[in-house]
Amino acid sequence: MIENLAKEEFEARKDYYRGCDMEVYRCRICGEVYIGTEKPGSCPFCGAHENYLAIANEWNMIKATSLSDVSRKNLQKALELEIDNTNFYRGVSQKTESIYVEGMFKGLSKVEREHASTICKHLGITKPESDVGFDKAVESDEENISESNRREKRAVRFYLEARNEAPESEIKEFFKALMEIESDHIRLTEQGI
Ligand SMILES: [Fe+2]
Ligand SMILES: [Fe+2]
Repeated sequence: MIENLAKEEFEARKDYYRGCDMEVYRCRICGEVYIGTEKPGSCPFCGAHENYLAIANEWNMIKATSLSDVSRKNLQKALELEIDNTNFYRGVSQKTESIYVEGMFKGLSKVEREHASTICKHLGITKPESDVGFDKAVESDEENISESNRREKRAVRFYLEARNEAPESEIKEFFKALMEIESDHIRLTEQGI
């Protein structure tokens, strides 16, 4: 019975599938997987640009085999920054009364959380539990959006520095990808509500 239903459903959707196979894409920055008929413009999980999305059987993660002291220090600082931003954005999405601002900050918070998790993979640690930043969300949407714009600019400045300081080509690439993503967030926070 279930098999028949599945078959009917598949037959009914034949036109939808015609000419386009399902593909499995995997992000070289965060390692997450996207399944669909087309490559998305950016990773739905970490926001890395299209060029970091690989076909699953050609995938490898951008990750250094060992870390220099300076990169370890910068990754630790990056982790603090991403956790603070994750929590601040979660705070904003819970506080606002605007459905758009709620969605925007829910999305931003998820992306920054993915960055924090990825940084932990580079550092070889488990992600620390922390609420730092959550209570910095204020009542005004405008003020929260201005604050998020400052945070994104700070992130881009820091990732540029960290990229320049990194001796490992993989860590340079990783910080470059983060710079591009946070630049997208600057643009988003400048578009207004
Ligand atoms: Fe990703
Ligand atoms: Fe961001």
